[in-house]
Amino acid sequence: MPVLSKLSIAANVAVIGASGGIGGEFVRQLSAAEHIAQVHAFSRAGTDFADDKVLSHTIDITDEDSIRHAALAASAEAPLDAVIVAAGMLHAGSIQPEKSLAQIDPQAMLEVMQVNAVGPALVAKHFLPRMRRDARTVFAALSARVGSIADNRLGGWASYRASKAALNMLLKTAAIEQARRFPECIIVGLHPGTVNTCLSKPFQRRVPEGQLFTPEKSVTHLCRVIDGLSPTDSGRCFAWDGNAVDY
Ligand SMILES: NC(=O)c1ccc[n+]([C@@H]2O[C@H](COP(=O)([O-])OP(=O)(O)OC[C@H]3O[C@@H](n4cnc5c(N)ncnc54)[C@H](OP(=O)(O)O)[C@@H]3O)[C@@H](O)[C@H]2O)c1
Repeated sequence: MPVLSKLSIAANVAVIGASGGIGGEFVRQLSAAEHIAQVHAFSRAGTDFADDKVLSHTIDITDEDSIRHAALAASAEAPLDAVIVAAGMLHAGSIQPEKSLAQIDPQAMLEVMQVNAVGPALVAKHFLPRMRRDARTVFAALSARVGSIADNRLGGWASYRASKAALNMLLKTAAIEQARRFPECIIVGLHPGTVNTCLSKPFQRRVPEGQLFTPEKSVTHLCRVIDGLSPTDSGRCFAWDGNAVDY
């Protein structure tokens, strides 16, 4: 079955975070699908997928003007059928996930919030009005199981956990609002599993054998999950295996 098979024929899709492990794999799998006509690949520095179907653009999700321009570029010729937000951060330079509250640094915490929660909210603000209105559409943002308050048994990683919990709330809020004017639009958070990318690299030692996914395996699962969703699922968060993640 082709990926995101329930989208319209000649679908127009956008991937934000196309330079990342998971985002890049979404671009590859979506552009290989015959019914998808155009994939807009957004990243801070631009990408080269060597595929005529893939248009490379730049975006910085900490800059609203950049997001506004990106939304206009992606929908200039056709409304959007799907938007995948795969941008996010866990660590960068001196910013590392906290082991305890004593390690919280307000500036670092704000930066993580900015990229993981405020950024995707602004992407929703500018991209959701540009989605197709007369058919099934999908807006999916990569969240994480550690953003589940109900599932937090270990503590630690305060900024990342809080940013993904905030993202889940923002997606739920967006879903309620979007349903009023775009009843066929499905807005969800996705937990991809633990995936072998730059983001997880420093933390892979404790991943049990067989539980570290390749981006290909994770994205194949996530596309299957998206295909199984209906508008009544909008506002929820789903893991790679199709199970809902509790808030
Ligand atoms: N890997 C995992 O095990 C795992 C598990 C749970 C959830 N997730 C989530 O999945 C998503 C993708 O992660 P990944 O594993 O693919 O990580 P990754 O390979 O490090 O990719 C992160 C992506 O985010 C982009 N990004 C960071 N800051 C940005 C900004 N200000 N503006 C635009 N783009 C920005 C990066 O772009 P640049 O190239 O410009 O830096 C890159 O494309 C994240 O939201 C992450 O929290 C991952």
